[in-house]
Amino acid sequence: MAASCPDREPVGSELTQEIQPVRGMNDVLPAEIGAWQAVEGAARELLTAYGYQEIRIPVVERTELFKRAIGEYTDVVEKEMYTFADQGGDSLTLRPEATAGVMRALISNGMLRGQRHKLWCAGPMFRHERPQKGRYRQFHQIDVEAVGLPGPDVDAELIALTARLWRRLGIERVRLEINSLGTPEARRVYREKLVEYFRAHHERLDADSRRRLEGNPLRILDSKNPEMRELIEAAPVLTDHLDPQSREHFQALCASLEAIGIPFRINPRLVRGLDYYSRTVFEWITDALGAQDAVCSGGRYDGLIDQLGGESTPGIGFAMGIERLVALLTQSGPVESVAGPDVYIVVSGAQATAAGVALAERLRTELPNRRFELNLGGGNFKAQFRRADRSAAALALILGDDELARGVASLKPLRRETGQSESPLSNLAVAIEAVLAGSAGHM
Ligand code: HAM
Repeated sequence: MAASCPDREPVGSELTQEIQPVRGMNDVLPAEIGAWQAVEGAARELLTAYGYQEIRIPVVERTELFKRAIGEYTDVVEKEMYTFADQGGDSLTLRPEATAGVMRALISNGMLRGQRHKLWCAGPMFRHERPQKGRYRQFHQIDVEAVGLPGPDVDAELIALTARLWRRLGIERVRLEINSLGTPEARRVYREKLVEYFRAHHERLDADSRRRLEGNPLRILDSKNPEMRELIEAAPVLTDHLDPQSREHFQALCASLEAIGIPFRINPRLVRGLDYYSRTVFEWITDALGAQDAVCSGGRYDGLIDQLGGESTPGIGFAMGIERLVALLTQSGPVESVAGPDVYIVVSGAQATAAGVALAERLRTELPNRRFELNLGGGNFKAQFRRADRSAAALALILGDDELARGVASLKPLRRETGQSESPLSNLAVAIEAVLAGSAGHM
C-alpha cells in the first residue's frame, strides 16, 4: 500500500482511485449548515450577552499538556489521543478538548495574576473513539470557561446560561444532572474507601479497572463496561465523604438552581471522564440520541491551573457537543439554511452577459444590505428562471441585449402575481427597493 511506503510515488490506478474520508471525521454539507449556524449563532449571542469573550487557541499542543491536565489514567489520554512526533521530534497531540489549551493560553500569556476571565472558544476536537451515531473522531465543541471565580454563583449562572440556550434553540428533551466531587483531600479519603471496596472484589474487575485500581480508582466508576455496572452501583459514594466547604458550595448551587427554577437531579455517580475536576460537576443529558446522551458537560477545576504551572486560580466551565445539539435540533426536520438572495439577476445575450458582473457589483455597492445573485455560466431564459425560482429570491432582474441597448432592465416579482416593470439602469437601486418593499407587503 502506498500509505505504508511514504517515499514511493503512487503509480497507475492508485493515482485515480477515490480517496476515502477518515473514519469518524465528517463533512458538514450546505444542506446541514442551517442547524450548525443556528447553534453557533445562538451560543455566540448568549455568551456575549453574559459577558464572555472569544479566545482562539491552537488545535495542536504539546502532548504533556493533556497528560498533565486530563490525567494519565483516563480513557482520553490512555486510548484516544491523536499523538505524533513532529519533524523536530517533539511529541504533539491534536486537542481532544479545549480546557487544557485555554488554561495553557492564560498561563503562557501572563493573563492570570489574580484576574478573572470569562472566555469561550469553539472548534474541532479529536478523540480516537469507536465512531457511532453522536460519537465521532473529529467533533466540535463550544467550550466556555470562567477563571478566577471561586463561589457557587458562577456555577449557577453557567448552568442558567445553558438552560437559556436550550430554550432559545427550542431544545426540550434535555435534563440536568449534577454532583460534587469535593476537594482533592476529600477525594483522597474517599479513594482509600474505594480501593478497599474494589480490592475486596478484585476478581470481578475487568483489565482496565485492575490497572486503574492503583493509578486512579475513581476512573473505575467511569467505566463503560456493562459487566462492571452492578459492582459500581454498590460502591461507596463520594457525596457521603464530602468536606464541609464543598458540601456548603454544593448546597448553595442547588439552592440557586431552585431559585432560578431549573430542575436537576443529583447523580452521585457522575464523576466525569477527565481528572481535573473538583467540587461541582454537571451534565445535560438527553434520551433522544441513544447511547451518546451527554450534550453538554463540565464542572469546576480549582486545581488545574496550579497543576499546569500557573498561579493557583479557581475555574469552572463546560463544553457542548455541536454534532449532538444539531442532531437534537434537526430531529423534527431540517433547519432553514442561510437566507437566499433578494434579487436574482438573469442575463441574456452576449453584451448583457458581459455587462452582468459589473451591474451586479454596482448594485451590491449601492444596496449593501440586499443580497444579489448573478446568474453565472449562461443558460437560456427558462433555465435561468428555474435557478432564480430555486434560489428563493423575491425578485428577478432581467437584463437582455435589447434592454441593455435601451438603457433599462426589467424587474419581475417571483413570489406574487404582479407583473413585470421596467426601470432605467441609472435608477435601478431605487426601483428595486420599491418593488421589494411591495413584495414584502404581499408575503
Ligand atoms: P467532555 O465531557 O469530554 O468534556 O466533552 C464535552 C461534550 O463534548 C460532551 O458532553 C459531548 O456533547 C461532546 N463530545 C465529547 N466527545 C465526543 C465525541 N467523540 N463525539 C461527539 N461529541 C462529543 C470536555 O471536553 C471538557 N473540556 C468540558 C469542560 C470545559 N469542563 C470544564 N470546562
